[in-house]
Amino acid sequence: MTQEAESKSLAAIRDVIDSARPLIYLQSSEEDRACALLAQAAAGRGGAKMDLFVWSVTDGLQHGGRSAKAQPEGPRGMLDYVIVHEKPAIFVLKDFHEYLGDAEIRRRLRDIYAACMNAGKFAVILAPVRRIPEELHREVAYLTLPPPDVVELGGLVREEAERLGAGLAEDQAYMLVRALQGLTFNEARHAIRRAVAVHGKLDPSVVPTLQEEKRLLVRKTGLIEYVPDTAPIEDVGGVEVLKKWLTERRELFYSRESLSAEIVPKGLLLMGVSGCGKSLSARSVANVFELPLYRIDMVRVFAEGLGRAERLFADACRAMEEVAPAIIWFDEIEMGISAHHQESSGVLDRIFAFFLTWMQEKPLGLFVAATANRIDLLPAEMIRKGRFDQVFFLDLPDKDERQQIFEIHLRKRGVDPAGLSVELVASRTDGWTGAEIEQCVVAAIISARLANEPLTDKYLLPSLRQIVPLSKTMKEQVNHIRSWAFDRAVRASAKK
Ligand SMILES: Nc1ncnc2c1ncn2[C@@H]1O[C@H](COP(=O)(O)OP(=O)(O)O)[C@@H](O)[C@H]1O
Ligand SMILES: [Mg+2]
Repeated sequence: MTQEAESKSLAAIRDVIDSARPLIYLQSSEEDRACALLAQAAAGRGGAKMDLFVWSVTDGLQHGGRSAKAQPEGPRGMLDYVIVHEKPAIFVLKDFHEYLGDAEIRRRLRDIYAACMNAGKFAVILAPVRRIPEELHREVAYLTLPPPDVVELGGLVREEAERLGAGLAEDQAYMLVRALQGLTFNEARHAIRRAVAVHGKLDPSVVPTLQEEKRLLVRKTGLIEYVPDTAPIEDVGGVEVLKKWLTERRELFYSRESLSAEIVPKGLLLMGVSGCGKSLSARSVANVFELPLYRIDMVRVFAEGLGRAERLFADACRAMEEVAPAIIWFDEIEMGISAHHQESSGVLDRIFAFFLTWMQEKPLGLFVAATANRIDLLPAEMIRKGRFDQVFFLDLPDKDERQQIFEIHLRKRGVDPAGLSVELVASRTDGWTGAEIEQCVVAAIISARLANEPLTDKYLLPSLRQIVPLSKTMKEQVNHIRSWAFDRAVRASAKK
């Protein structure tokens, strides 16, 4: 988080400028933030400085924070101004989507495209909504601002600290940044200022207040939780097919604005044996896509009875539309259903009907990761192709996968697996889930620690006996899930 690092948003803006596309449509409701980023882009990386002009119908043309000497007349005059301007510059046109209905304006924008090409001039339409007329599609480079990342939030934290005259060490600033992740830029600023008002200072002691603020903002509906701890894909052992699918889909997702909607990834459903990494994989989706993760709590949706569930669920889904781009995680989506599936109120049917329609209509920037244990409780349409891009079945891991999982959990706890008979324990744990393997590693570490010795086979091998795998105790159920999934889902693991 150094001063020189470039935030993702700035990099995205610089990319379009570097690609020399003179007509840019930047969709964002965070106008100040967008203008600040464009100013940074105009300031250039190394000397290549451009002028920045900002136009709005109320303030006219501004340059360097002051009214420009020559004021163009209205939106049409503004476009003429861009065309005759002689030096490289970025022109920010606030709310210009309002004028795109006018044929003359549209024509003039296409003139700008031709006139500014190779002239180092850029017209940036800055608008909170996407409204690009058909005939401009080819000329316009469309861009949305990604949520502020660590670098950008770091800049905000430093700026606010400076305003207060407070010194903040790099690691202290980082703690604040972590607490702010998942908020928009304005929300983050608001959260900082509120925390400062409460505590009278800005240092790591305000972290709980920042987190509380985040909870309040995200939980407007009471059902949505921002999940800060996403999992790197390397933390997930096995499931190679799923991993490959995710990395491929990430590219498609990022190009979503230039693709037809039907090929933009919408979501995936993970089902399978309990403890085989469904929740872990869902968290890793956010990591692969590098997006904030929000979880919708299905238990809470149904907590106040079936009567209220319908509205609560719809509200939660709608609220998510405001946080796009993001990953929405419905964990154990069949929850609540199992408690209510005897009741024939029709409410459940309506909830699912709503969900399926919403999956089709939600903004492209939302990707759904749903998990289910008892997928046989879900209605058939839910699994049918077209709703989710793919239904994956996470089975009990095979021997190679178990070895990977052992190694992951040993390394996570600072133990080098090289000195241990990992292959042997992997071969002796047929039928174990990832969760059970993790439990076994923890048990071994505890016994070694109690003996005050480093972890060796002496402690790892006996710990195998401490765990009785679920696939033994609940053989019937596990077999039921497996046979159900056999012809309804794609195996997440590579076939052996
Ligand atoms: N494939 C795996 N690779 C690494 N760890 C795993 C794997 N599967 C399960 N685990 C461990 O077990 C824990 C519980 O798994 P979880 O994802 O909650 O299972 P599920 O949601 O399928 O019931 C995870 O947090 C992780 O530590
Ligand atoms: Mg789970």
